[in-house]
Amino acid sequence: MNTTIVILAAGQGKRMNSALPKVLQPLAGRPLLRHVIDGALAVGANDICVVYGHGGDEVRACFAGEHLRWALQSEQLGTGHAVEQAMPQTPDENRVLVVYGDVPLLRSETLAMLIEGSGQTDVGVLTVDMDNPFGYGRIIREDGRVMKSVEERDANDQEKAINEVNTGVICAPAGKLKNWLGRLTNDNSQGEYYLTDVLAMAVDDGVVVHGFKAGNQAEVMGINDKKQLAEAERALQKRLVEQLQEEGVTFADPARVDIRGELKCGRDVFIDVNAVFEGEVLLGDNTKIESNNLIRNSEIGAGTIIHSNCHVEGARTGKKCEVGPFSRLRPGAELASGVKIGNFVEVKKSTIADGSKVNHLSYIGDAVIGSGVNIGAGTITCNYDGVNKHRTTIGDDVFIGSGVELVAPVEIGKGATIGAGSTISKSAPEGKLTLERAKQVTVPGWKPPGKRSKK
Ligand code: UD1
Ligand code: CA
Repeated sequence: MNTTIVILAAGQGKRMNSALPKVLQPLAGRPLLRHVIDGALAVGANDICVVYGHGGDEVRACFAGEHLRWALQSEQLGTGHAVEQAMPQTPDENRVLVVYGDVPLLRSETLAMLIEGSGQTDVGVLTVDMDNPFGYGRIIREDGRVMKSVEERDANDQEKAINEVNTGVICAPAGKLKNWLGRLTNDNSQGEYYLTDVLAMAVDDGVVVHGFKAGNQAEVMGINDKKQLAEAERALQKRLVEQLQEEGVTFADPARVDIRGELKCGRDVFIDVNAVFEGEVLLGDNTKIESNNLIRNSEIGAGTIIHSNCHVEGARTGKKCEVGPFSRLRPGAELASGVKIGNFVEVKKSTIADGSKVNHLSYIGDAVIGSGVNIGAGTITCNYDGVNKHRTTIGDDVFIGSGVELVAPVEIGKGATIGAGSTISKSAPEGKLTLERAKQVTVPGWKPPGKRSKK
């Protein structure tokens, strides 16, 4: 049986107080709706329909090129009306699962349970017990069987005392659902077409309604404002960290780490506080990430240490490198094994071969550096002439003295030594000492500027 997943995302999200549509607000670095769509894909839905409303163009643009259906709900007349917009192109023989663009933490296992449990003919509703159910629809059971769902505003005192609430997530056979949706009325305190009314209609038609309880409240939390967004962020971070802990990763403090994307770790990885991982990051076996690091779309080789306060983006390191403290690896920085990048060193679009060191205050850009090279403090590759970028090539076992400017394009031959303070604009031969310095003079007759005499 094919499953159509309908994602309701037409709400404006006024309480976000933001120019960005609610479902595009980032959670763990990705739009809320991204999480919901990924959850839908993970349960193997072959048809996903997003119901969108005002400001929807921006939302659609964000997911352009993806295999999704979009249904416009131009007026928000209620959740039942919203689902109806997705129905015309949904085959009757499908099963429909309704989820929400602003409920991003639902696990695909939970969705799968709801789909499996509802089978081909029954209806399933995801419920949760809440300590404070105020504001939610209450699930009314008789002899344990779900009979209906009553909105807070339409509930009597007895119903309001019920703690089991409707999460709004519902699974139903498409043909029957279409029929029930067509019969909805807006004859309630909010004048809306409630999706939740289909539960009672199903029961009336003799269809079994299964109530499935979600494991915890966090999983089904809806996000309406920035406070809830931050709460969901912590809940999701906790989940991501726990998963990695199970795989053996050590976190100095699981509450002080942020994973915004996908973090994959080898064995015996240690991550200190305030590490932020963005995009796809791979940490090899025995890597150590010290405090205050941002690592984005990078691959860190086995046994490498990233010391405190580094910014690493689009970079790759081999085994047993040391980076930082206070280093910046920019896109295209490729370190082989045993490379050391020290404090206040920036590396961009450069390869550095085994065992080479750039330990202090340097800029290395568009360079190819051999193995066993030592780059002295304050050395700069002058890669940009104001119009074009040029390459610096440094052979194996080169020693570059401190404070050297390498004006690219330039090539330093194997085993060469470059004297400190040189500005090298012509290629230097292998194995020789090359330097460029103005003659040092001591100026005769020079006097320090004395105090100006007052007139
Ligand atoms: C809904 C349920 C309630 C449940 C609660 C769980 C109904 C009538 N009530 O209430 O039983 O406890 O969710 O959070 O379904 N939306 C549209 N178009 C509309 C109306 C809503 O796309 O015309 C979307 C909104 O963007 C929102 C979601 O549906 O993401 C829920 O709508 P909302 O009106 O907030 O329902 P609740 O009052 O929270
Ligand atoms: Ca100089």
